[in-house]
Amino acid sequence: MRKHIVAGNWKMNNDLAQTERLIADLKKQSKTSDTEVMIAPTFTNLWQAFQNLRDYKIEVIAQNMHYAENGAFTGEISASMLKSIGVSTVILGHSERRAYFNETDDLLAKKVDAALAENMRVIFCFGEELADRKAENQETVVENQIKNALFHLDADAFNNILLAYEPVWAIGTGETASPEQVQDMHAFIRQILETKYGKNVADSVSILYGGSVKPNNAKEIFSKPDVDGGLIGGASLNAEDFFAIANAF
Ligand code: PGA
Repeated sequence: MRKHIVAGNWKMNNDLAQTERLIADLKKQSKTSDTEVMIAPTFTNLWQAFQNLRDYKIEVIAQNMHYAENGAFTGEISASMLKSIGVSTVILGHSERRAYFNETDDLLAKKVDAALAENMRVIFCFGEELADRKAENQETVVENQIKNALFHLDADAFNNILLAYEPVWAIGTGETASPEQVQDMHAFIRQILETKYGKNVADSVSILYGGSVKPNNAKEIFSKPDVDGGLIGGASLNAEDFFAIANAF
């Protein structure tokens, strides 16, 4: 079933004390609603965040992971390590990982497989760059990113996959895709899912939008029929702003 989801990607922000302070602020803002709320602190603070939020409906999720189970991969973290501290959702394919850490579609396909094998949920990110949009090539780029990393999966796997459309030109730039651009792309994504897996899968996968979502634009973006939530960067670092977005549904 499609759910409303708002996930905060903290990126490389907040040391331990700052993490605890922001979580304390989030607890004050948190109230019961049907929207699933998630936060993704850095690896070093995941355990503490998980402990602090035990009795709250705010899920602690990871920003990345390696595809291998364990072994000689200095500096990396595996799916089973995340699971062992209570983290069962992971963001994969964020454009910053693709751009700065050379994450390719092939690598991401392996990461997706490894996460699903551990029964984790994946927030799979993709999106075109400005040059693609200017060349009106955005649909081809997005279609390839999705196909290359996900279309080897069977339909059941999509029970554990959330998609996040994040046009690179709108991330951290203050520039947002217009609600119509977002809706058009989300409808296109549902269409390619339907062609490959049928209507049931297409209608049941949650598709989030990411890219400069703020309290003042969330309502309009979330009002679009194919938008099921948001992946929030900058605005997730402030509890009031983050919950203003989460409550925008
Ligand atoms: P932003 O980041 O909200 O700061 O644009 C979104 C993201 O990178 O997921």
